[in-house]
Amino acid sequence: MSPSAQRDYATTQRPQIAVVPLTAAFAEVASALHEEGFEDCWDADAIIRLLDVPGAFGFLAFRPGNEANHDKDEPLGFVLIQSVLDEAEIVTIVVGRQARQSGVARKLLSAVFDRLRDKRIGRLLLEVAEDNAPAIALYLQYGFEEVGRRKNYYRRKSGREVDALVMEHTHGHCVLGWGD
Ligand SMILES: CC(C)(COP(=O)(O)OP(=O)(O)OC[C@H]1O[C@@H](n2cnc3c(N)ncnc32)[C@H](O)[C@@H]1OP(=O)(O)O)[C@@H](O)C(=O)NCCC(=O)NCCS
Repeated sequence: MSPSAQRDYATTQRPQIAVVPLTAAFAEVASALHEEGFEDCWDADAIIRLLDVPGAFGFLAFRPGNEANHDKDEPLGFVLIQSVLDEAEIVTIVVGRQARQSGVARKLLSAVFDRLRDKRIGRLLLEVAEDNAPAIALYLQYGFEEVGRRKNYYRRKSGREVDALVMEHTHGHCVLGWGD
């Protein structure tokens, strides 16, 4: 490969979605993403407080910028988890509007599952509004199953109340990869 072709390759073949641990340094970025997904969005301080809880961790997905064109990294989405002993909960997962339906949530969940395997955590729970079809489809695809319902758990700005489905990862340790 000629040097110029190598340069082109290096600048064009960057991964489209990269994932890094979510730290307090990304709290502002995460807050801006959260605003794109939820009516009651969290400010940076709220995200820092959540990350400070023992057992909390998260991941930020971004599209790496192209240094040759002075492009900046573009934040795509993030996920925040809390874990206690052998159980974890998805506190939130959100993908920026422009980046949806391009595999960002899948990438974030894969990073979560890898971490759960490392921490030997076999149970993953979450709550999702019963009218949130994209999120429910995502969780079903990943093997979550509805295990409960919290009546009128969410209240929309319009005043409408919506049930939350409680979902659990059904296959436990085996699907997380360390039980078999
Ligand atoms: C739910 C959400 C995180 C999905 O993120 P995403 O990056 O668009 O999802 P992906 O592209 O990784 O899609 C993975 C799977 O999710 C499901 N999915 C995602 N968006 C969907 C949509 N609009 N309609 C139906 N299914 C959808 C599909 O099963 C998809 O798999 P496929 O590509 O093989 O069809 C995103 O829509 C979002 O941020 N929503 C607002 C915040 C929110 O509701 N978070 C969940 C709170 S519980």
